[in-house]
Amino acid sequence: MTNIGVFDSGVGGLSVVNAIKKSIPSARIEYVEDRENLPYGNKTPDQLYNLSLPILNKLSKNNDAIVIACNTLTTNCIERLRSALPVPLIGMEPMVKPAAEQTKTKVIAVCATPATLASQRYAWLRNTYAKGVEVIEPDCSDWTAMIEGNTVDRDNIRERIDNVCDRGADVIVLGCTHYHWIEDIVREEAKGRATVIQPIQPVITQLKRVLKLPD
Ligand code: DGL
Repeated sequence: MTNIGVFDSGVGGLSVVNAIKKSIPSARIEYVEDRENLPYGNKTPDQLYNLSLPILNKLSKNNDAIVIACNTLTTNCIERLRSALPVPLIGMEPMVKPAAEQTKTKVIAVCATPATLASQRYAWLRNTYAKGVEVIEPDCSDWTAMIEGNTVDRDNIRERIDNVCDRGADVIVLGCTHYHWIEDIVREEAKGRATVIQPIQPVITQLKRVLKLPD
């Protein structure tokens, strides 16, 4: 029996759990969220590390691998967490590289939390893979609360998506697992002007590789 731990601050991770269940139906999945300290998107790297380490330590006891289903935690802490924990960690981070490869207009948008956008890892992704590409980072700082509270405001989403599309973005990166729940709305509001991407498939491929499961 393969045991997989999945961690996020809140409901974002559930979208990842659903996708793993579909791809690896035989696995036992232990999902843990840190709703008490939500949102993670406004925390510092040290706060994120200190909040998540005890939870991940516990999770590592019963699982063969852990998916950090949180871009905020991955981009701020994955290396420190890898050094501190005894099981492989599979992170999720904004798909800057694929977006930069796919764009024809040379303009992409990255929707992510303030802490992800402020992280060194994200700066590295941008500098390494998005040279010569304009990267728009719309203010999505209220989206986690909106999705957690089940108060999805279509006008809010339309305004952000119209703005990035009007500025020429033809690829929109969902860089927060909470936003997976509004992926269809984002795609509808893009109205064919931009493709919408998020990393669940590459993460599952990586997870299978780490667990030595067939593709
Ligand atoms: N779901 C998380 C992410 O992927 C963070 C949401 C939050 O707690 O702000 O970044």
